[in-house]
Amino acid sequence: MLEKDIERVLVSKEEIDQALSRLGQDITADYEGKDILVIGILRGAAVFMADLVRHIDAYVTIDFMDVSSYGDATQSSGEVKILKDLNSSVEGKHILIVEDIIDTGRTLHYIVGLLEHRKAASVRICTLLDKPERREIAEVKPDYVGLDIPNEFVVGYGLDFKQRYRNLPYIGVLKPAIYQEA
Ligand code: IMP
Ligand code: MG
Repeated sequence: MLEKDIERVLVSKEEIDQALSRLGQDITADYEGKDILVIGILRGAAVFMADLVRHIDAYVTIDFMDVSSYGDATQSSGEVKILKDLNSSVEGKHILIVEDIIDTGRTLHYIVGLLEHRKAASVRICTLLDKPERREIAEVKPDYVGLDIPNEFVVGYGLDFKQRYRNLPYIGVLKPAIYQEA
């Protein structure tokens, strides 16, 4: 049913699976002997994070944060509002932030700053997708990247358009008519 709205598949289910295995191996090796607090940024990272943690062989605890950026729909102002804060304390912990996609970098810039302020022992970023061309905050450099993609709006595997399409098992580009209806 959903497939009829998709113009083109950008990242297949198989490519996502390969990225998950590679990221899981890298993270497992890098954190050897350490416990990890994995923090997912709602809602987009939920699908990716659920799969990613099953590829990490270490003591992992999980938590979630929900943030929204002030500004209009297309341009985030860089000011971020916390809609749901963490349940756990980050002080002294090794944090792995899991994000669906990095665009301008404003959201993660704010979150990393906040976790450092709260005295995390270390903060690293794992993102499924990166749009490096769009970066505005150069300091935001993900430590683990599933795939770089060009500057196109994508949906699926957690990513939404108007809250829909998060349940697609792959990442795709919508038909232009879908945006025009909106
Ligand atoms: P940033 O603060 O500009 O890096 O924004 C990152 C956030 O924008 C992501 O967590 C997504 O929620 C959203 N976003 C950016 N690009 C896309 C896209 O292509 N599809 C869906 N959401 C996107
Ligand atoms: Mg997001």
